Amino acid sequence: MLRTPFFDPNKTYYENWEQGPFGDFANGEVLPEGAPRFEFLGHKIAYPIGIPAGPLLNGRFVDAALDKGWTVPVHKTVRLKTHPCNEWPNVLALKDFPGQLSIERAQEPLVVTNTYGEPLSITNSFGNPSYEPEVWQKDLGKSLAHAKEGQLVMCSYEGTKREGMSSEEYVNEWVEGMKLLKDAGVEVVEANFSCPNEGAASLLCFDVPKVKVITSAIKKAIGDTKLIIKIAYFDEASLRDLVKEVGGIVDGFSAINTIAAPVVNEDGTQALPGAHRVKSGICGHAIKWAGLDMVRRLKSLRDEFGMSYGIIGSGGVTVPADFKEYRDAGADIVMSATGAMWNPYLAKEIKDAYPDG
Ligand SMILES: Cc1cc2nc3c(=O)[nH]c(=O)nc-3n(C[C@H](O)[C@H](O)[C@H](O)COP(=O)(O)O)c2cc1C
Repeated sequence: MLRTPFFDPNKTYYENWEQGPFGDFANGEVLPEGAPRFEFLGHKIAYPIGIPAGPLLNGRFVDAALDKGWTVPVHKTVRLKTHPCNEWPNVLALKDFPGQLSIERAQEPLVVTNTYGEPLSITNSFGNPSYEPEVWQKDLGKSLAHAKEGQLVMCSYEGTKREGMSSEEYVNEWVEGMKLLKDAGVEVVEANFSCPNEGAASLLCFDVPKVKVITSAIKKAIGDTKLIIKIAYFDEASLRDLVKEVGGIVDGFSAINTIAAPVVNEDGTQALPGAHRVKSGICGHAIKWAGLDMVRRLKSLRDEFGMSYGIIGSGGVTVPADFKEYRDAGADIVMSATGAMWNPYLAKEIKDAYPDG
């Protein structure tokens, strides 16, 4: 059942940031968290469920997620300097698309609408906006204090490529931001190498040599702090190459981000304003197959290479049975963004359905 979304697609990112979260997510009810029974990268956690980087815009959203039993919430991707949000609208629903979105189908336009139904698939396009570090560092400190025993607050970061930057400066941009997350007290940080909404021709995660340089530099700087990298959907050979090259450097992989596709209004016109927004990231039910496929392959590559990285699975978790599919596929933690937005009680429903995780 779809409830009032805690991020309101009818409002701008800034209105959501200032006024949200909305609906039952924000009703102040605090659900109990069980004793820590699971382990993730050396952290004892109460249950392997979370919300990935995205809908939790600031500390109030992260605290509300903790209160509703989302054991591992990830603060939306932040940057080293203030960065504007893409023009509204930022979230729209897929119209008449109940199935799974193959990579081939994602080359063709998808019709989007502001009417939301089930199965729930949406597009989101923000461009990773950010407030200045003072704002998010303060928020993270508060949320870390708000977390109960067994809850783990993570945060996602993206290094910004600015005009005229050398590759050394770009690597440093990643390192400096990650150090600020560590300074704020975050013990598991996530590098967003897979944002599809920046107009980049190719995602950073597909450039394996660069990923290796950046992750090595970050790990050198943050020491024991755990580093996860957020990646997109990969074909077989490219994922094998990525894991072979960086699976021993990073502490975990988070898969997947969205699948990019052209999005249009019913009359065929471009749905999102802006030259770089012909394509937009699709998430929710339609991409579940891709998240599951990646988790299965990450697990089998981990076994094959004798590695020990953690696996966070996301993409299309909207009902409790989806959680189980991800766990069976090998996810150490399962996360839901779209599903959580329209059902704050999904974590509770999952815990009730699968008490043993
Ligand atoms: C509203 C919204 C905002 C998002 N913003 C980010 C982000 O800032 N960083 C990121 O790595 N992923 C972002 N994502 C992608 C999610 O983390 C997730 O990988 C993707 O939505 C698939 O999960 P889902 O099907 O449960 O939504 C966002 C997703 C949504 C729905």
